[in-house]
Amino acid sequence: MEFSDVENDLAEILLTEEEIHAKIEELARAIEADHQGEKILLVGVLRGAVMVMADLARALKVDIEMDWMAVSSYGAGTQSSGVVRILKDLDSDLTGRRVLIVEDIIDSGLTLSWLRANLESRGAKTVEICALLRKPDALKVEVDVTYIGFDIPNKFVVGYGLDYAEQYRNLRGVAVLAPHVYE
Ligand code: IMP
Ligand code: MG
Repeated sequence: MEFSDVENDLAEILLTEEEIHAKIEELARAIEADHQGEKILLVGVLRGAVMVMADLARALKVDIEMDWMAVSSYGAGTQSSGVVRILKDLDSDLTGRRVLIVEDIIDSGLTLSWLRANLESRGAKTVEICALLRKPDALKVEVDVTYIGFDIPNKFVVGYGLDYAEQYRNLRGVAVLAPHVYE
């Protein structure tokens, strides 16, 4: 759906579909350059990373593999709890693999720092991170991110896979959710 379809629920438009797609092409070129001759295993973090995974995978001009994990660090609210649970694990063996975690957003960084350590412990050759969005002012732990799309303000955003209570994931762009929706 378009911004205009949920206009009253949005406080501010941050990124259009066109801006996101242009950035994903850029990220794809950088990823290709860094992995020449080596097959990449993209690990998408469900459910928020579905859109970035689908677009990034198609932007890459090399053969890749995709696998998925589901973890939970949020309840229905808008604050990270810091407690990470695996809801769905990978099907792939990571031994010797070059793994690229594909994430929608880095907020506190708690989810990704936990996830990277978890995947590294499975014997991957490298575990790197590609995140479309990052909120620098919300970081609670340092996360070494190899590929980052956009740094955004410390506000709750929705769209392009990101939800509030499972809504707005199918919004084409990214927007700040109006506080009246969750207050
Ligand atoms: P972190 O552990 O605080 O970095 O949280 C990461 C996860 O929380 C992301 O993968 C998102 O699923 C979710 N999240 C963080 N910030 C937002 C937001 O502004 N809107 C929607 N989901 C968010
Ligand atoms: Mg996520």
